[in-house]
Amino acid sequence: MIVALNNKSNLTKEEYKNYIEDLIKIECQSKIILCPTFLNLGSMTVKDIHLGAQNVSSTASGAYTGEVSASQLKSYNAEYCIVGHSERREYQKESNEEISLKINKLFTEGIIPILCVGETKEQRENNQVEAVLKEEILSATKTLSNEEKSKLIIAYEPIWSIGTGIIPTNIEITAVFKYIKEFLPDSKIIYGGSANEKNVDILKEVSLIDGYLLGGLSLKPQDLKIFLNKLEN
Ligand code: PGA
Repeated sequence: MIVALNNKSNLTKEEYKNYIEDLIKIECQSKIILCPTFLNLGSMTVKDIHLGAQNVSSTASGAYTGEVSASQLKSYNAEYCIVGHSERREYQKESNEEISLKINKLFTEGIIPILCVGETKEQRENNQVEAVLKEEILSATKTLSNEEKSKLIIAYEPIWSIGTGIIPTNIEITAVFKYIKEFLPDSKIIYGGSANEKNVDILKEVSLIDGYLLGGLSLKPQDLKIFLNKLEN
């Protein structure tokens, strides 16, 4: 199982140090991908924990103030990078076009993109789930080779589920995962949105889930340990 930890814009330098001390005590079989803020990305490498970024510039290195390029991420040993998180799509107005550029930059550096896709509550209520996912997936993958497509990780994160404590039913998740597989049969697909140590027993019944993208839970090593334990047993 892939378990990606999205710290979002949390943890100061000192807090991150303590956090890592707790995180490394967790023993598990899952592939842990830690995605801290850029500032914490370079602070330490931890054995058995893979490093990911939360974002990347759509441009190469150069005169782009405030941006962090894929080659810079590579030099800090990032193996993965979250792209197109719904928070960036909403607050930074990231377009599907920009997300496609970012994915290409990452593949050029050999970094695996974790592409976030998902619908709003309103889109679900209006039966637009498949149309939204199709647009997000096709626009992001249109220039990729089949080999790149197979390496890409898709994180299905229904926006109405992120940080709300509400999760889709297993039937809803299964339907979406099957739909995504029609476009990307060989990609790993993970689930994100309020996944935690209390609902993991239900979620893990969905056999198509290859892993999880955890936001809130990523910040609580004790609960994360329970989550991983339940997931793996
Ligand atoms: P959450 O966030 O686990 O806090 O719902 C997931 C995410 O936004 O990646």
